[in-house]
Amino acid sequence: MKHGVIVEMGPDLLKAPGEEVLDAAGRYIAPGGIDAHTHLDMPCGDITTADGFRCGSLAAIAGGTTTVLEYAECAEGETLQQGLANWHRKAVGKSFCDYGFHMTVSAWTEDTPAQMAAAAAAGVTSFKTYTAYQKDIGVDDYALFRIMREAARLGALVCVHCENDGLLRALSEDLEARKGEVSAHPDSRPNLVEAEAVSRAADIGMLAGSAVYIVHISTKEGAEAVRRARDRGQTIFGETCPHYLLLDRSRYDLPGFEGAKYVMSPPLRTPEDQHALWEALRNGGLQTVSTDHCAFRFADQKTLGREDFRKIPNGIPSVEHRMELLYTYGPAQGMTLPQIAAVTAWNPARIFGLSHRKGQIAPGYDADLVLLDPDAPHVLSAAAQMQAVDYTPYEGMQVRAKVETVLLRGQVLMENGRLTAETPMGQYLIREPFHQETREE
Ligand code: URP
Ligand code: ZN
Ligand code: ZN
Repeated sequence: MKHGVIVEMGPDLLKAPGEEVLDAAGRYIAPGGIDAHTHLDMPCGDITTADGFRCGSLAAIAGGTTTVLEYAECAEGETLQQGLANWHRKAVGKSFCDYGFHMTVSAWTEDTPAQMAAAAAAGVTSFKTYTAYQKDIGVDDYALFRIMREAARLGALVCVHCENDGLLRALSEDLEARKGEVSAHPDSRPNLVEAEAVSRAADIGMLAGSAVYIVHISTKEGAEAVRRARDRGQTIFGETCPHYLLLDRSRYDLPGFEGAKYVMSPPLRTPEDQHALWEALRNGGLQTVSTDHCAFRFADQKTLGREDFRKIPNGIPSVEHRMELLYTYGPAQGMTLPQIAAVTAWNPARIFGLSHRKGQIAPGYDADLVLLDPDAPHVLSAAAQMQAVDYTPYEGMQVRAKVETVLLRGQVLMENGRLTAETPMGQYLIREPFHQETREE
């Protein structure tokens, strides 16, 4: 390794003077995780997510994730450039892991093309849209088409949060009488609310000639819609998250307000959906597993929705636990280790313009490495986490794989389970344009 980059691989390499040797006997050596979906230091009404870049990135490193792709957004009336500048300020000098930004586009105006072009030139080669929340940050079909066509022109791709806005608004209104029940949350967003929006986003992407990335797919039907679009030759990718794979909607029936810990959108689904998502990861129907890490404290933030499920801040923490969960439960679900490395590192790298330096263990690549002990049973708990939040949705869950040692660009930031990182050395990553041939791999 030289200057943080892998130069040579093979057995019995000679140790140069001053070089350190890490003993990886009996360990998996995985490419540093790339979590393509985080929300750090994100405002939400009058509150802000519990994890900023400092704690969130330390938690990422502790969990074997060396790069995050964070969703930057604009405050009302700001340009994309102002929003990006704000997110740079949040991250610079604070992040322990490398980071890049997706940029949320929440309207189409005559200035939008120039702003998108400036963002892409600055290495932000993916844009985020919401089909839900149209009274706030969401976009209608007209704007989505325009944004997608512009992204295609710029060599960028469009990430879409897929829920049908009209349906979920109507269904939420209909649940007025149950507004004090957390279990009304999943009922306001049945599977077809997601699936309809995935199919529609895929169709609009096809018409616009844009590469599309569907974030946080939670349903069998949503995964099938991505598969159909891929089968007709479209450039489209699907992401799911550990919580949709490992937790189900019975969590909303927990006593009292406990279920609020699991309120995110889309919501947790059924074991049948979980089964379909694992199958899609095995057969290439879905390409990535990201966390959608969006942490709100249970004690004083989730409680904002105690009287009305529609006011529970949406989102859960998990940037720290994704790798251990995937390297534990992936093999149990029939995934091979290369498949797990692909969905946690290589696929996000190639989809999001980082495949020239991240996501693989090979000469020329950043020495972002994770040593995992595959047989170190332990229990996940909030008491043991770095995430600056008072709970984990995985409390009490047994995992076997344990992240022991983490290197970012050759620097050891965690060794034998002990964080050694002292100063934030995370770098902003200028991402390359999207390459159409990525579809074919
Ligand atoms: O509930 C969620 N997923 N919160 C984070 C924001 C988003 O929609 O991705
Ligand atoms: Zn979303
Ligand atoms: Zn998100």
